[in-house]
Amino acid sequence: MKKIHTSSSHRFHSILETLKRDHTDLREMIEVLKSDSENIRKKKATYADFSKLLKAHAKTEEQAVYTVASKIESLRSAVFEAYEEHAVAEELMKKISYTRDDDRWLGRVKVLGESVEHHIIEEESELLKNLKQRIDLKQEQEMVDHFIALRTRRPMKPSSAHAGVLKDEWVTQS
Ligand SMILES: [Fe+2]
Ligand SMILES: [Fe+2]
Repeated sequence: MKKIHTSSSHRFHSILETLKRDHTDLREMIEVLKSDSENIRKKKATYADFSKLLKAHAKTEEQAVYTVASKIESLRSAVFEAYEEHAVAEELMKKISYTRDDDRWLGRVKVLGESVEHHIIEEESELLKNLKQRIDLKQEQEMVDHFIALRTRRPMKPSSAHAGVLKDEWVTQS
């Protein structure tokens, strides 16, 4: 039997699935940044990618997801908490950029990794879960499309290993 290929744009992907591709890459890099056994060279190289990806992800998420979520009364405080966590990470990244002492750098990068990890867990298990219950599928699809359209214009695409079923979509639109 012939396999039918449908256009990727007609497949529905949840907002959680969409954001998880970046989250998965971020989490893998966080493991390196937190690790006590990785050397500083490896951590510096990983941090260069991590900071680029985090900036691209956070900005896109704010524009495509948080803006919508902040209009839903019951989600407002959780959304503002998430915005604040992005801002804290941004501040810490600024500090890290001018940290010359290696031990201080390692400490700051570890704290950043731990705080982003915590943020991702809460985002996936609380914010996005509650958001999904308060929007319909059409709104969710619009949010996903908006996220992908903005995200493809920014650096650091999801690694092919994690792009999974959504890979075609990103490739087509970039
Ligand atoms: Fe976030
Ligand atoms: Fe996120």
